[in-house]
Amino acid sequence: MSLKDDILKELINSGDYISGQALAEKFEKSRAAVWKAVKSLISDGYSIDAVTNKGYILTSGNNVLSARSVKAYMEKETDVIYLPSVDSTNNYCKKLLAQGKEGTFLVVSDCQTNGRGRQGKSFYSPPGSGVYFSLVIRPHTTLQNSVTATTAAAVAVCKAIEKLTIKSPKIKWVNDVYLDGKKICGILTEAITNFEDSTVDSVIIGIGINISTSSFPSEITNAGCLDADVNKNKLVALTADYLLTTAVSGYNDFIDYYRSHSMIIGEKIKFIKDSQVTYGTATAIDETGGLEVELEDKNRIVLRSGEITIRKID
Ligand code: BTN
Repeated sequence: MSLKDDILKELINSGDYISGQALAEKFEKSRAAVWKAVKSLISDGYSIDAVTNKGYILTSGNNVLSARSVKAYMEKETDVIYLPSVDSTNNYCKKLLAQGKEGTFLVVSDCQTNGRGRQGKSFYSPPGSGVYFSLVIRPHTTLQNSVTATTAAAVAVCKAIEKLTIKSPKIKWVNDVYLDGKKICGILTEAITNFEDSTVDSVIIGIGINISTSSFPSEITNAGCLDADVNKNKLVALTADYLLTTAVSGYNDFIDYYRSHSMIIGEKIKFIKDSQVTYGTATAIDETGGLEVELEDKNRIVLRSGEITIRKID
């Protein structure tokens, strides 16, 4: 990490004034080097106050999305790449993987010009009102075991929102995040498999959160936004940290939380099964995130993937 990274992390973690002398001693640099790094952070857009006899403090106005800030808020070590605008953060990850990039990494952006949703749909990603990011993990396991990431991602987003705001997000199976009946976050998980040994080389977990998006194209119905004064860097960092822990661990770690946040149990739903529109009632979430459904003829089935529509809200 550079001196700038170190100082930013220290200011974030302290939340209080830190003297130039203390920073210089901690990082074994001169006070002049510390001041130069602080000035450089300020010119990058960070709100840092310098007060005589007290030192430096990061003020609350710091809500500029950047790789440096996301990294500073993260506990886990991972490469973070920030792009002010990109076609799609998932596509960008695929490009980096094709170029041979190794390890876990996170691509974060303020805007996507070709944001992708599930089932070939697009994901509205205008500048300045949301945050769009993709985390690449290396599960080294089968595709079957890697699907945990799909469910874990919704849990990670909800936990981060609950930690940073007073909002109460809900999950619509499989992993849409809703607030007050409106979808505020979409998740697209893609896997790159290794044909030689049938294991998953990488899983790209793409997450788009509408933070303050107030108007949507007319074809998008039922979308909303978080509408909270939230630090975007923290929101991304907490979500990514949580995912790095749980995305490939067992469902046991988060299935109870997932169930308690599900908005569909007891609801009448519609879905496509064997190319047929099918109706039923969502009855439970099983141990591996499957959706148990009672059909209209009283038969019971478990859905493992696909899209459902809640009949009263969509
Ligand atoms: C959906 O609701 O259909 C899934 C939407 C997923 C959107 C995110 S935004 C970041 C990442 N990059 C993309 O192109 N898509 C995902």
